Amino acid sequence: MWRSLGRWCFLLMMCGSTAVYASGQLDGAKLAQEKVCLGCHQVEKARVGPPFKAIAQRYQQASDEIEVYLAQAIRQGGRGRWGVIPMPAQPQISEEDALTIARWIRGLSLEGATNE
Ligand code: HEC
Repeated sequence: MWRSLGRWCFLLMMCGSTAVYASGQLDGAKLAQEKVCLGCHQVEKARVGPPFKAIAQRYQQASDEIEVYLAQAIRQGGRGRWGVIPMPAQPQISEEDALTIARWIRGLSLEGATNE
């Protein structure tokens, strides 16, 4: 009895995590808004920082590990990769949120590709 219950819990957990992944697109956009990234970044146009779509395109060919790199880049900030203006560190963003945003940014490179 308990054994099969355990199996169900495991299954539920698996389904739960795919659902979270699938809703990542929307959450990423929402987080970017909530975490005031949009004060410096826009999706399409350069503002203080590079547009998210340009970031997505630069790393389009990279392997999935780039999402971890981008999440780190979001939390630690950096300079010299896009221009002379540095990005301040964003330590208030949790690793999980940073990863969600990173996935969302990366997914932006696929947008428009369907317009052909
Ligand atoms: C004060 C302005 C500012 C804020 C706020 C800001 N950024 Fe940036 N961001 C920049 C600038 C400027 C750069 C370019 C830095 C460089 O040239 O290395 C950048 C670069 C990036 C990059 C590219 C990193 C790389 O290695 O190519 C990502 C991804 C990014 N920002 C995401 C975010 C996210 C997500 C947030 C919100 C949590 C955020 N930024 C908030 C200014 C900002």
